[in-house]
Amino acid sequence: MCGIFGIVTANEQALGPILIDAAKRLTYRGYDSVGAATISGRTIDLRKDAGKVEDVAEKYNFAEMTGQRGITQLRWATFGTPSQVNAQPHLDSDGDMVGAHNGNVVNNVELRQQFMAEGMTVRSENDGESCVHAVERYIGQGMDFISAIQHAYKDLEGDYAFVIGAINDDKLYAIKKGSGLVVGIGEDFTCISSDLPSILPLTRDVIRLEDGEIVTLWADKVQLHSVVDGGLIAREPETITESMASVKKDGYPHFMLKEIHEQPQVARELLHRMAGDQEEIEHVLLKIKNARNLYLIGCGTSYHACLAGSVYFSQLAGKTAIPVLAPQFEPQYLNAVGEGDLGIFVSQSGETKDVLNALQAGQSKGMTCLSMANVIGSTLTLKTEAWLPLVCGYEISVPATKTFTNQVITFMALAAQLGGRSDLDFDTLPDLMAETIETVDTSVRALVPKINPWEDLYILGYGLTYPMALEGALKLKEITYAHCEGMLSTEFKHGPLSAVTEGFPVLFVTGPEDVPLIISGINEVKCRGGEAIAVGQSDPALAANADDMIEIPDSNPIFASLLSVLPLQLLSYHMAVARGYDPDFPRNLSKTLTVD
Ligand code: AGP
Repeated sequence: MCGIFGIVTANEQALGPILIDAAKRLTYRGYDSVGAATISGRTIDLRKDAGKVEDVAEKYNFAEMTGQRGITQLRWATFGTPSQVNAQPHLDSDGDMVGAHNGNVVNNVELRQQFMAEGMTVRSENDGESCVHAVERYIGQGMDFISAIQHAYKDLEGDYAFVIGAINDDKLYAIKKGSGLVVGIGEDFTCISSDLPSILPLTRDVIRLEDGEIVTLWADKVQLHSVVDGGLIAREPETITESMASVKKDGYPHFMLKEIHEQPQVARELLHRMAGDQEEIEHVLLKIKNARNLYLIGCGTSYHACLAGSVYFSQLAGKTAIPVLAPQFEPQYLNAVGEGDLGIFVSQSGETKDVLNALQAGQSKGMTCLSMANVIGSTLTLKTEAWLPLVCGYEISVPATKTFTNQVITFMALAAQLGGRSDLDFDTLPDLMAETIETVDTSVRALVPKINPWEDLYILGYGLTYPMALEGALKLKEITYAHCEGMLSTEFKHGPLSAVTEGFPVLFVTGPEDVPLIISGINEVKCRGGEAIAVGQSDPALAANADDMIEIPDSNPIFASLLSVLPLQLLSYHMAVARGYDPDFPRNLSKTLTVD
C-alpha cells in the first residue's frame, strides 16, 4: 500500500519540508522505505532509504532539498526487499528522469529483463523502476511524454499509479490505473497524491482521476488526457469540505467499515503479488509438500484463518495441516515436534506474544518456521525463515477484517496451487467479494433490529464455513459486547440447543454443498421456537426453511466459504454502531497483544 506525492511550483524553492510533511501524511497506508526527489533545471536530487520517514528524512537531510518540482514516495515492499536501492523514487538510465509508483506491476520480472536486454540501466528489483523505464523506452524513441505514457501503459500489467518528471521541463506527468490518484490545485502550484490527506493541508480544490487518465501538471494548470486515444478530458475541480479525520476514513464513519470495503482491492493486490512472486511461492510449497507434520499456528482471528487453511489444504491438496491456537502448541504438540516438521505462524501484527512463544518453542525443536504477517519488519517476520506478506496496508480498526480475508486467500491460493486446482479462477474472487459486500448490506441492516436485543447468540457453520462461523462470532462479541458462540452446526444438538427459547436467534452459515445438513439444524432450532437466519447462496430449500436469509453471490464452495464471512463482518459492525459502540476501538482490547 505505497503512497506517492508530487508537486509542481512556478520557481525553484525549498521543497524538502513540503515533501517530508506529505510523506508523513501518507504513513497511515503502511510503508517500509521512503524517498524524495527534487528537479530543478538540469539536475535531479534524489535521496532515499529503508526506514521511517523521520529517520530517513533526518539522515539524508530532506529538509534542505530545493527544486521547481518534487516527488516523494512511501514504499510497502512487494517486489524486492526493503533497501536503499529498492526504495523509490527511481531514476531512468541516464539519470535525467525520475518517477515513483504505487501498486503492483505484475510483469515486473519480465519487463526488467527486457529493459536490460535493450541496454537500459536497471538498478533495483522494484516495479516502480519498471514504470520509469517503460516511459524511458518510448521517450528514447523520440515520443513526447503523453505518447510515451500511452505506450508504457500497454507494457505495464497490473494495478498502479505513477508520477514522473524530467530535467529541462517544467511539468510532472502521472497516470492512474487501478490505484488511487488525486490532483490538488493551489495558488502558484499543483500537486498530485495517492490520497487526500497529503493534499488537503496545501489546497482543498481537487480533481479525482479515473482509471485510464493521464494528467500533466504545470504550476498554474493541469490537463487530463485519455490513455486510450490521447483525447483531452474536461473535468472541473471540486472543493473538499470534510474534516481531515473524516478524509482519513475516506468518507466512511469508521475505519472498520472502510477496511471491510477495502477487502476486494487488497485481495486483488495480494493475488497479483503472489502471481508475480512464483519463485518464493514454489519454495514455500515445496516445504509444505515435504513437511512431515504441518502446523498452522495463530491466535484469535488469525487462528480462524489457520483453521480455514487446514480445510483448504485437505480439500484442495490432500495435505493434512494441523490448526493450533498458539499457546496450546507447546502442551499439545511440542513433545512430538522435530526436524522435518513445518510451522506456519500467522499474525496480523507479527508481534503477538503467544505466537512468538510458540515460534520459539518450535524453533527449539528444530522445526522449520515460516510466517504470514501484515506488518513489515515485525518480530515474527524477522525471526522466521521466510515470510508471506499480507499486503493489506495498515489495518487501524482493532477488529481484523481485511487481514483475515487475505490470510484466508493466501492459504486458499497455496492449497490450490499445491493441489493443481487450476480450475479455481482466483481472478474472479475480488469482484465476487465486492459484489457480496454491495449486495448483502441491505439484508444485513434489516436483521439488526431483530438480533440486537439478544445478549446471547450462536453462529453455526459446517466444513468450509465452520471457521467463518467462529470468525463471525468473534467479530460480534469483540465489538457488540454480546456473548456469541461460533460452533460446528452438528454440535448444537449436543448441548447448546437447550438455550433456545421463543425468538432466540441462531445464524447458520452454509456452503452450497452442505445445505441439506444445515436445513436439519435449522429445523431443530425452529421447532423449539428459535429464529433461524441462513447465510448462503440462493437456494429455494434453504430459503423455505430459514426465517431469514442473507444471500451471497453464486460461486464454487471454496470461494463461497470466504464470501460468507463478509456479511458477518457487516452484521457485527452495524450491530455495534446501533448499540452506540465505537467498533474501531472496543473496550478492553488492543490491536497488538505483546503480553502473555
Ligand atoms: C481480531 O479481530 C482480534 N483483534 C484478535 O483476535 C486478533 O486476531 C488476535 O489478537 C491475534 O492478533 P494477530 O493476528 O496480530 O497475531
